[in-house]
Amino acid sequence: MKVLLINGSPHERGNTYLALQEIAAELTKCGIESEIADVGKKPVRGCIACGTCKAKGNGCCVFDDDLTNSLSAKMAEFDGLVVGSPVYYGQPNGTVLSLVQRMLYSNGAAFNGKPVAGVAVCRRGGATAALQTLNMPFQLLNMPIVTSQYWNIVYGQLEGEAALDAEGMQTMRSLAQNMAYMLRATAGQPKPEYEPRQAMHFIR
Ligand SMILES: Cc1cc2nc3c(=O)[nH]c(=O)nc-3n(C[C@H](O)[C@H](O)[C@H](O)COP(=O)(O)O)c2cc1C
Repeated sequence: MKVLLINGSPHERGNTYLALQEIAAELTKCGIESEIADVGKKPVRGCIACGTCKAKGNGCCVFDDDLTNSLSAKMAEFDGLVVGSPVYYGQPNGTVLSLVQRMLYSNGAAFNGKPVAGVAVCRRGGATAALQTLNMPFQLLNMPIVTSQYWNIVYGQLEGEAALDAEGMQTMRSLAQNMAYMLRATAGQPKPEYEPRQAMHFIR
């Protein structure tokens, strides 16, 4: 079993990385493989709601010039997902938001039903709002949200400071243990057979 850890920070070895690294180390102890993908410095466009992905149904975003399509295709190799983001103005950073929105909208099947956790890393405030935002799209794809002993938050400002947040790091380790537990508990289990989707927009 394998978990993809997305590092949304432009600081490739910054605090978000340290939080993800702690998760990766604990996953290894639990016998689960993982891989960290750095996306924070990459140019990622926002969704333009063109609907091409839905019209073609090929799991691809119309924009093939960033890592959205390659990363969502790669998700086929992974059983679980962690999305780590620095907190910017009380929100996940823009790159992470655009990436997640486009990957899940264009290729939802690659993510559907897979356990997922958002992780927010901040200096002081806004982490719970950022975490809420991170988790929103996952909940539309039947993705079980993996929790921990506290909200999935780590504190630190300058590069390396997150390592000093002993409680935050412990929260990351418990999160990894819960991810491993959920993956093992659901391994080989058939997915629920959902009803055909009912979509209403309250106009017609
Ligand atoms: C544009 C910008 C906005 C930020 N906004 C917040 C914020 O709202 N709350 C906060 O606590 N920290 C904020 N920070 C600080 C970062 O979240 C913090 O330094 C974090 O550790 C960065 O993680 P990284 O090392 O993985 O990049 C902000 C930083 C930047 C660059």
